[in-house]
Amino acid sequence: MRETPIYYYSSSSGLVRTFAEHLQRPVFNLAEREVRTSEVDGPWVLLTPSYKSGNATNDTIPEAVKRFLRKPANRRAMVGVMGSGNRNFGRYYQQAARDIARASGRPILLEFELSGTPWDVAECRRIMADLDAALDRSEPPSEAV
Ligand SMILES: Cc1cc2nc3c(=O)[nH]c(=O)nc-3n(C[C@H](O)[C@H](O)[C@H](O)COP(=O)(O)O)c2cc1C
Repeated sequence: MRETPIYYYSSSSGLVRTFAEHLQRPVFNLAEREVRTSEVDGPWVLLTPSYKSGNATNDTIPEAVKRFLRKPANRRAMVGVMGSGNRNFGRYYQQAARDIARASGRPILLEFELSGTPWDVAECRRIMADLDAALDRSEPPSEAV
């Protein structure tokens, strides 16, 4: 059964990377140029932190995530969104993940703070295993349509 990959962005503080590396499945860091300029080979899940800048008009979506989502093939194959944030940011908590979910019509699968707790890691593994099984049961997309 295919293991649905997670594409994530993590800054130099590396909190999201720490979380992703505990998942025991294919994970790719969009901070790496060759990853953010690549094209996916099937369904995938986005994991993004939110980064509020000083400028009130700026959104909180990391530039590398925007870059990756510029490719229509990547946008089409994204099946869900996960977010890492910090509740200290109040109404901006998880804004990047929530904005992308709203704009794309894909569900938020998980939200956690910073690098997550062991419970968050276990929950993510469970959600992804369920997703792998669901995608395995679904019809592969036909080239004819
Ligand atoms: C400058 C800065 C801005 C942030 N803005 C937000 C925000 O708007 N909303 C939020 O939920 N978390 C915010 N956070 C928290 C980060 O999203 C969170 O710590 C995340 O785990 C960082 O992941 P990373 O270390 O892998 O980059 C911010 C953190 C920093 C340092």
